[in-house]
Amino acid sequence: MCGIVGYTGREEALPILLDGMRRLEYRGYDSAGVALLSGEGIEVSRKAGPLDALVQELEGHPPSGTAGIGHTRWATHGAPTDSNAHPHSDCSGRIAVVHNGIIENHEHLRRQLERQGHRFNSETDTEVVAHLLEAKVAERSCTLREAALAVASELEGAFALVCVSSAEPDVIVAVRQDPPIIIGLTADAGFVASGIPALLPYTREVMPLDNRQVAEIRPGSARVFSFSGDKVSVDKVTVEWDEAAAERGGFEDFMLKEIFEQPDAARDTMRSRFDESGGVVLDEVHWSDETLRRITKVVVVACGTSFHSGMAAKHAIEHWTRLPVELDLASEFRYRDPVLDDRSLVVAIAQSGETADTLAALRFAKKMGASVVAVTNVVGSSITREADAVLFTHAGPEIGVAATKTFTCQLIALNLLALYLAQARASMPADKLAETIEAMQALPDQIEETLLLQDDVHRAAKRYAMATDILFIGRGVGVAVALEGALKLKEISYLHAEGYAAGELKHGAIALIEQGVPVVGIVTGQALYEKMLANIAEVRARGAETILVARRGDERVRAIANELFEVPTTKPLLSPVLDSIPLQMFAYFVAKERGLSPDKPRNLAKSVTVE
Ligand code: F6R
Repeated sequence: MCGIVGYTGREEALPILLDGMRRLEYRGYDSAGVALLSGEGIEVSRKAGPLDALVQELEGHPPSGTAGIGHTRWATHGAPTDSNAHPHSDCSGRIAVVHNGIIENHEHLRRQLERQGHRFNSETDTEVVAHLLEAKVAERSCTLREAALAVASELEGAFALVCVSSAEPDVIVAVRQDPPIIIGLTADAGFVASGIPALLPYTREVMPLDNRQVAEIRPGSARVFSFSGDKVSVDKVTVEWDEAAAERGGFEDFMLKEIFEQPDAARDTMRSRFDESGGVVLDEVHWSDETLRRITKVVVVACGTSFHSGMAAKHAIEHWTRLPVELDLASEFRYRDPVLDDRSLVVAIAQSGETADTLAALRFAKKMGASVVAVTNVVGSSITREADAVLFTHAGPEIGVAATKTFTCQLIALNLLALYLAQARASMPADKLAETIEAMQALPDQIEETLLLQDDVHRAAKRYAMATDILFIGRGVGVAVALEGALKLKEISYLHAEGYAAGELKHGAIALIEQGVPVVGIVTGQALYEKMLANIAEVRARGAETILVARRGDERVRAIANELFEVPTTKPLLSPVLDSIPLQMFAYFVAKERGLSPDKPRNLAKSVTVE
């Protein structure tokens, strides 16, 4: 949440900041602002609304300077207005700060500062930091970095802070307590950002700060200190993503581009993960087979779309390994007093690797003695540094706020993990393992075929774009697909959608069905096929119109579908990878028909770094 960018070097900073902010705008788009440092002092410009509003505002009189900081906001404290937009300044206007996170004790600090005579200009929690820095610099005649270290220990909550002072015009100071901060260096410039895409035009060697660290960045160099003031070294991480991967590349929206990147993303996620003898190799999961055999249960924790991939994985893990699997929303997990021990394997799934609740769940699980494997898309993210093992989805950067390619790659990575466990525990006959691996290897080509449904899906989207409610139903792994289809639709089209286990409809939700209500049904499963057809008959009998995802050539389903999306046939437990694709496209086209921007849905941000 919130995009942060900082630059110090020899070039004009404004274009570099705006470019970085554009690359991070998916993290928040309630307002945007920059602070430029020059020999004259600090010039702050801020504007409510998307980044374009700020760009327009600055046209004709761009602020100048060779260092500066920028911010795109996802509002927490204070409405998205000009005065609440970051950067925030101290009373003298000599210090400017941008922030991602929540400062929990801001009210107390603000009252203290007001008593000391500080004047506030916004309703944000962030502004206290600017005034605290001002107070520390005045009290101690210290550098900005020293002041930041002192301030950090007074703040409670989660904060990634980046600040500048006119007294040190080529220095940027960054502070990390939970939300990510990443540093990049070239020979004559220093960069800091809250996300990797902002750094890609300059370097692919990045230095993520650890928690409770402060960095002092100058052109070409950076020094990092722990909160206790000791100088520490930071490892460089090489990012595979190239700059083009974070561009729209001719597509109208990132979401559409990312939907169409799925065949390659799936191939990349599976690359090097099968050996010649037909087994699964996961070099990153370094536990011995003996350790894997000791596991007595698996617990999957995640939020949002990642939770849905975990829900599908529960079926695969249980079926292939015969281990019991619990599935928890990360935001609930640690509050339900779960039973865990050193024989529990916790699978924490987070595309961003930064979701606050998933990180908290991971920490809780580790404290209880469990082993944690993280499934994530972002190298160097917080989750990768705290988990015992990491399984990367190699989906490339996902900029559209709605997760698409990372969902299908999570499904693939989780299936790999399930097969890997089954292999180590010898819980799956060799021929079944081989067949399943073969079916997985066919998925990228099958995804390509599934994308050919684009026109059919677009037609259905036009037909139902103005509906007021849509139900999504499935059974077995199809429930996860239904929930994900409904989430995708509601988050980008603002159309009310509910995902349901089809067998549950009769227990309440069927009351919502009346003449013409669209019902999306996932009918690719084999085990519960007849039951699913019966559930569809029940809604049709009450006037529902059906949009059905079925196996290619299924004439029984064709006969009862108002709109039909036929996907290639795969193994039932793998079918969510294919079944979810027409539903992603459906959500995309419905949003477009409703005149909405699918990449930046209201109220949302890509990476949820607050609880
Ligand atoms: C929906 C979506 C969100 C995320 C959720 C978790 O399209 O993207 O529901 O899945 O915020 O994010 P990660 O996976 O980064 O933990």
